[in-house]
Amino acid sequence: MRLRPVRFHDDRPSPATMQEEVLQGLASRPKRIAPKFFYDERGSRLFDAICELPEYYLTRTEMGILESCAPEVARLAGADCTLIELGSGASKKIRLLLEALRPRHYLGIDISREFLRESVQRLAHDYPWLEVHAACADFAQDFDLPDPAGSGRRLVFFPGSTIGNFEPHEALAFLQRVRRLVQPDGALVIGVDLKKDPKVLHAAYNDGQGVTAAFNLNLLERLRAELNAELDPKNFQHRAFYNAMHGRIEMHLVSRRAQEIRVLGRRFRFEPGETIHTENSYKYSVAEFHALARRAGLQPRQVWLDAAHLFSVHYLSVITRSRPRAA
Ligand code: AVI
Repeated sequence: MRLRPVRFHDDRPSPATMQEEVLQGLASRPKRIAPKFFYDERGSRLFDAICELPEYYLTRTEMGILESCAPEVARLAGADCTLIELGSGASKKIRLLLEALRPRHYLGIDISREFLRESVQRLAHDYPWLEVHAACADFAQDFDLPDPAGSGRRLVFFPGSTIGNFEPHEALAFLQRVRRLVQPDGALVIGVDLKKDPKVLHAAYNDGQGVTAAFNLNLLERLRAELNAELDPKNFQHRAFYNAMHGRIEMHLVSRRAQEIRVLGRRFRFEPGETIHTENSYKYSVAEFHALARRAGLQPRQVWLDAAHLFSVHYLSVITRSRPRAA
């Protein structure tokens, strides 16, 4: 593959940030570690494997919706936009939008640096007409966009229902940040998983091949490799279930026995059955998500669903508040 230049901006959170957050999470009750720490290189590859699983309907359903709605997205967005993808990962879905929109600039943002590098390099190779930028950053926090992506109307693409991994108040703050990023005339295309039969959800997060379990347990491998953790991953097991009261899938790492682990020299005790809460994956009805978007200053313009109503893709534009007239 001939390499085309990709402008790469490295704003990756420092190892100190991860250390601090992990130690704080393990010291809290219940113990927790944020899901963004799943995505080292192996974690990103495992997540890619999850997306191919028969039980994990999210990815293929969203792809199907995007295949049919991409021309309408292009019509709504208009010509000459800058396409910004958050959590770009393997960047397969973006191809559908790139082909329909033919934007001048593309900016992929992801927290997993090497994975991002590879995927944007592939895009640069496959779309010679596209100027490709990449930024390694934690988009769950405030971040600045690199300069070259400043031209043209901005269209942010946030697929995969990653919004569901934020707490509702974080999701609101995130949507408000996106609104600021794309204003005055930009928009957001976002994939959101819908509420449904808990059995379907349970299967999606407890697959038969154990890939989701490996993805969850990989977090412990990461603690060993990067934070000198002294622990045996075999002493933990994967658990995922639907919490109907909160409308979310919860993932935990369950301690199989009473044990003590050490991370960066600090000791953490576990009772048998005690867990580290590693992820929430909130599911929204269309009405719930529209209400959230409006609170963030984003106007629902269009929503597309699959025939079985498993998943939704929304097109939201900035609500421009009319200025009060001078007296
Ligand atoms: C990235 N995110 C939307 C996935 C989800 O479904 O919440 C992560 C995942 N966790 C377990 N399986 C997939």
